[in-house]
Amino acid sequence: MTGTPAMTSMTTPTTSPSSARYGVAEIATLFPSLTLIKDASLRTKVAAVWNEAITTGCGGKGWTFDELRAVKFTLLAGDIDMSFVEHLNSCALQCIAIADVLATSFRCAIPINRDFLIAGALLADCGKPLEFDKDASGTVIQGVFGQQVRHPFTGVALAYKHSVPGEVMHIIATHSHEGDKMERSIESIIFHHADFVDFDIAKWLGKRGTKK
Ligand SMILES: [Fe+2]
Repeated sequence: MTGTPAMTSMTTPTTSPSSARYGVAEIATLFPSLTLIKDASLRTKVAAVWNEAITTGCGGKGWTFDELRAVKFTLLAGDIDMSFVEHLNSCALQCIAIADVLATSFRCAIPINRDFLIAGALLADCGKPLEFDKDASGTVIQGVFGQQVRHPFTGVALAYKHSVPGEVMHIIATHSHEGDKMERSIESIIFHHADFVDFDIAKWLGKRGTKK
């Protein structure tokens, strides 16, 4: 399946996290590729996971959509002009593009479940709103909880609560270095590399102090 994610006309929610409950339409304003998941049940589960991550993250304070959009892609690569939300959207689109290329490059069929791939791409970092907190000055930092339990673990915990399929939890669990000793599924291999394309480029730019 190829295509540009449909943009929704929904207004971005501005209500406080404590009173907000975000469904597919609202979460798709952050992550348009959500609409490319064909299985409606899986779409709803992905949105439910993100709703919980957004409303319970930041040390229990929750995040507004605007706050989440302002979070930098990575705290590890310097001052890069790419946000966390933009990174997840980049990875989801990279995954779809990689799957398209592979489908025509290999002479044998490659078993790729597109729904699992997109869901995994959108949920791989769903634990980060829990990993991140703010210090007294409002700067986003890795909180104590985030140091104790990194986002691949909290991501799987959240996904399990919402009955996300094991194939998608596998992508969340193995996408980062925690998964290096496991045999990744094809979908996880694709996401892992897309993730590090962004991360390694961000590091390259960060070293040189390049913002744009
Ligand atoms: Fe990650």
